[in-house]
This record gives sequence, C-alpha cells and structure tokens, in this order.
Amino acid sequence: MSNLEQTLIVVKPDGFKKGIVGKIISRFEEKGFQIMNLKSFQFDTDTARKFYDAHKDKHFFNELVSFICSGKTVGCILEGNNAISTVRLMVGNTKSTEAQPGTIRGDFGLGFTDNIIHASDSAESFIKESKIIFN
Ligand code: CMP
Repeated sequence: MSNLEQTLIVVKPDGFKKGIVGKIISRFEEKGFQIMNLKSFQFDTDTARKFYDAHKDKHFFNELVSFICSGKTVGCILEGNNAISTVRLMVGNTKSTEAQPGTIRGDFGLGFTDNIIHASDSAESFIKESKIIFN
C-alpha cells in the first residue's frame, strides 16, 4: 500500500558552495522521488526568521538565520511514497559528525548549523515551509 506524500528539501549555502546540488537531487531521483518544483534563491533575514520560526527561542537561532542567509540555496519539492520520513532518513542525523555513512549529511558534511541540507519534519512543516519558499 502506498502513502503518496510531498516534502521540501533545501540545499543550504554550504551544500551549494560545495557544488553538490546535482549529486543531492540525483539521490532523491534515483530513490524514486519526483521533482515537483525546484528553485535557486537566497534567503533574506525576514524570510529565514519565518522559515525557522519553530527554533526562535533556541540559543542557536541567530546563528541559524545568519548561516542560511549567507549564500545561495536550492529549494525542492519532492513527491513519492512516504516522502517525509524517507527523505529524513536519507538526510541523516542533524549533527553531521553523527550522521550515518550513506546519508547525505554523513557523506558530505561535518557541521551542525552548516549541515548541507534541510528537510521538512512533518506534513504541517512541509505546508508552512513550502508556502514560504514557493509562495
Ligand atoms: P535543519 O534541519 O535545517 O533544522 C534546524 C536547524 O538548526 C538544523 O538543521 C541545524 O542546522 C540547526 N541546529 C539544530 N540544533 C543546533 C545546535 N544545537 N547548534 C547549532 N545549530 C543547530
């Protein structure tokens, strides 16, 4: 039985600067997800603060906003079976040094704030975040 879902990923400025946007998107295509929307853009502070609103009381909020605004990013809506949880599995642990090899953060990053990629953690987050990025 399939559970068709959509989710959002954002390749962060460190992933963009490293030149691995294509490699990252390919992983999702090879897994079987379809690209429903794709956009290259740079966050401004207001948009970043809205995007990361759930973290507004955390000690790392300002660092997070400043990092996501520091360079170009790529937003992508993916569709497929169990997209939200499967994409999060492929992305790996938030702390890249603890992410399993074979995951995107495990293979491409070493950072925490700069952890290559963001992926929506729920259907509600996907709706909120994709509205912010794709209007
Ligand atoms: P992301 O998936 O974009 O969602 C929120 C982000 O906050 C997370 O990835 C990390 O980049 C960042 N983050 C979470 N916890 C910490 C922390 N303790 N210190 C710094 N950054 C963090």
